[in-house]
Amino acid sequence: MTRISKILLMALIMTCSGTALSTSQERKGVSVEYLGTNNTLIRIADDAKYLLLPIQDNGEEATVNVVVNGKLETSFMARLAKSRVDYKVPFDLTPYKGKKVVLNIISHQGRSTIREAQEDACWRNFVVSDTYDTTNREKFRPLYHHTPEYGWMNDPNGMVYADGVWHLCYQWNPYGSKWANMTWGHSTSKDLVHWEHHATTIVPDGLGAIFSGSSVIDAKNSAGFGKDAIVALYTSAAVSQMQSLAYSTDGGYTFTTYPGNPIITLPTEARDPNMFWDEANGQWVMLLAHALEKEMLIFNSPDLKTWTLASQFGKGIGAQDGVWECPDLFELPVAGTEEKKWVLVCNINPGGPFGGSATQYFIGDFDGKTFKADTDANGNIPTKWMDYGKDHYAAVSWSNAPEGRRTVIGWMSNWQYAAEIPTMQYRSANTLPREMGIFKDEDGQYYLSSTPSPEMEALRAGVHYQSRSMSVKQVAKTVSLPTQNDGICEIAMDIEARKGQKVTIVLSNKAQEKVTLTYDTESDTLSFDRAQSGIVNFSQDFPAVTMAPTHRHNGKLSLRLFIDRSSIEVFEQEGRLAMTNLVFPNSPYTTMSVKTSKGKAKINNLRIYNLSVN
Ligand code: FRU
Repeated sequence: MTRISKILLMALIMTCSGTALSTSQERKGVSVEYLGTNNTLIRIADDAKYLLLPIQDNGEEATVNVVVNGKLETSFMARLAKSRVDYKVPFDLTPYKGKKVVLNIISHQGRSTIREAQEDACWRNFVVSDTYDTTNREKFRPLYHHTPEYGWMNDPNGMVYADGVWHLCYQWNPYGSKWANMTWGHSTSKDLVHWEHHATTIVPDGLGAIFSGSSVIDAKNSAGFGKDAIVALYTSAAVSQMQSLAYSTDGGYTFTTYPGNPIITLPTEARDPNMFWDEANGQWVMLLAHALEKEMLIFNSPDLKTWTLASQFGKGIGAQDGVWECPDLFELPVAGTEEKKWVLVCNINPGGPFGGSATQYFIGDFDGKTFKADTDANGNIPTKWMDYGKDHYAAVSWSNAPEGRRTVIGWMSNWQYAAEIPTMQYRSANTLPREMGIFKDEDGQYYLSSTPSPEMEALRAGVHYQSRSMSVKQVAKTVSLPTQNDGICEIAMDIEARKGQKVTIVLSNKAQEKVTLTYDTESDTLSFDRAQSGIVNFSQDFPAVTMAPTHRHNGKLSLRLFIDRSSIEVFEQEGRLAMTNLVFPNSPYTTMSVKTSKGKAKINNLRIYNLSVN
């Protein structure tokens, strides 16, 4: 067929179906009936696998009631296109094969006439199809960080390591790239780098949306769902928040909701149950965020189904300027000692050190019922942060990680602007997985250390540049950064400076977009300035400088930087600092320049690694 006749054929198909077709599989397959200014029916008249919903990213939400053979099957919210279609999301029709499916759509926007309502772009763009195109269309989608295949993602949920597989569920909206319809999306990985996407695990039901929670392996069959069943606790969220249970007997791929749900109800907002097996006391322990009370509730259970409140932690302690969410509690050895300490993780929003969301933690002791936080020399309980960037939230750990590891992952965004970041097909990635440890600093205090999981070393695909020792002065020395794979790279270096000096590292592109890192040996801090990092104007809260204590006191700081299209994560080599910030440069940073504020400093063991995900 000639090119011209192909175009003519396409035009004919488009005219016949009355819609713009983007794949050959798409066909009209629906009829539209306008019932009023805010009520429209879509009848599906085709045995296709998917109905594709036309979405306008900033549109207003409509309620979509899915009616199957006359019965209400499910309801969800969708920002159906009014003036333009930004993307389409699939509604899976396969469970209803052979049945009559009707969408009863209620729009909540003011339309004065039916005619006006009929003009909405969505009605001519509903199509059915047997495939759904998930090819990446986003230049900012990270290459080696976990992202959802499409749609909105926030907190990591129900993370459990089972049969050699890292399961990662997450707060997911399957029907758009803004927060709504919370469902547990599900991905798995064998190496924490390559992620495979699976069908949703737990979907909204009569008790509400599925908010955050955790999963454990019930090795002793204490709940009676079978030995090694994976048991998940999550928050059912509607008018109120309740805790519910679901279990999986196929290794975490499909879940059955427990008929006795909800298993915990309280008269106040409480969410994000996080549980673990407490070997010392032969019981299950669960933490629940008593969000508005800004405290964590600690429960015990013999069987994962009946829970007794044991204690409360946090009233008036630590950062209190936001709601307390997504708790975690685990024990870790203190580096270089025989000692062990407990870490209570408390995500807070807003109230983070640089505005918006952040992860604080407390170190102390736990006896199975009560957590007691350590105090500093003045008898106060200090506020400590797991990561000193703006884009690290809802961080919790994997249950049952191998070799005693405490592996954590966080949502790499901030509630201040997460819904506005310049992506469409998907919104938000997770941080790199990290290994937690505890170290004791010169002030006698214990702190969490956070290093990239060892699996990240497999990303290295050759050294792009290295130098054993480089002397730097006030005039900047520059080094080129890798350009392959959109400039994704890891940079490692040991800075050796004198007290009173500042060492500045600038990552920049040809458009003069840049990120400036400054190591200040006087204050023992590292700062990260992204005010001119690229696209920053989608939120007034995005351009910012974040700053971390280095926990290094002799002018020597060893850094590892991970760059992945729209994120930069900075770690001190031993994990004494972690800093995660999003950046949206119009083109990748191509140059790194280093200089001092005065005198000479050294950059030793500089290595810039190409990274590859193959
Ligand atoms: C934290 C959070 C949780 C809640 C979930 C809802 O980001 O607010 O407390 O369960 O998101 O998506």
